[in-house]
Amino acid sequence: MSSLPPESHPPALGPIPANTRAVDAPKVDLPADKELVLKVVPMPKDCNANGDIFGGWVMAQVDIAGSILAARYVRGRMATVAVNQFVFKQPVRVGDILSFVGGVMRIGNTSITIDVQVYAERYDTQGQYIKVTEAALTYVAIDAQGRPRPIPRETRPNAASGNAE
Ligand SMILES: CC(C)(COP(=O)(O)OP(=O)(O)OC[C@H]1O[C@@H](n2cnc3c(N)ncnc32)[C@H](O)[C@@H]1OP(=O)(O)O)[C@@H](O)C(=O)NCCC(=O)NCCS
Repeated sequence: MSSLPPESHPPALGPIPANTRAVDAPKVDLPADKELVLKVVPMPKDCNANGDIFGGWVMAQVDIAGSILAARYVRGRMATVAVNQFVFKQPVRVGDILSFVGGVMRIGNTSITIDVQVYAERYDTQGQYIKVTEAALTYVAIDAQGRPRPIPRETRPNAASGNAE
């Protein structure tokens, strides 16, 4: 038997009370210059005791989304070395459809920095996006011993022009 009071249990999937929605958040389009890398819907198991989605759960998804883009350039093992910025702009609710879009900010010698933006569509107003989170993460290409290794020249965006940066 749970010792938690009933009101602290995550809510069942269903309509969100109007007074808990970010109704005043500006509706925006997904940025055309970013790539959609991940879509996911948080479930009741991803909630904290207040019924909101754990910030840590969102951070994990952002790390996965960023790593998908980074992997295209790193080509092999890598590690997250830094989360340079993380802003939770609006709460995320159970049943929101989250779109993770991203782009490359910088490619260094062994590291790559990716910006990830997260947009929510409320389940009952699909097509209207609210920006809920933005972050910048740096990944380091590592070798079998876990030491930094250069990011391959051939995967760099302007490799064809012969310029590595
Ligand atoms: C990632 C790791 C191998 C890097 O080793 P390191 O000895 O710190 O490497 P360096 O100092 O040579 O830096 C490597 C690159 O990371 C970048 N970097 C290091 N610290 C950074 C930071 N705080 N922010 C941004 N970039 C950073 C460096 O600028 C360098 O990039 P460049 O080669 O493109 O110029 C090591 O720190 C590590 O294993 N960390 C743990 C990773 C991990 O477990 N992540 C998951 C945590 S849950």
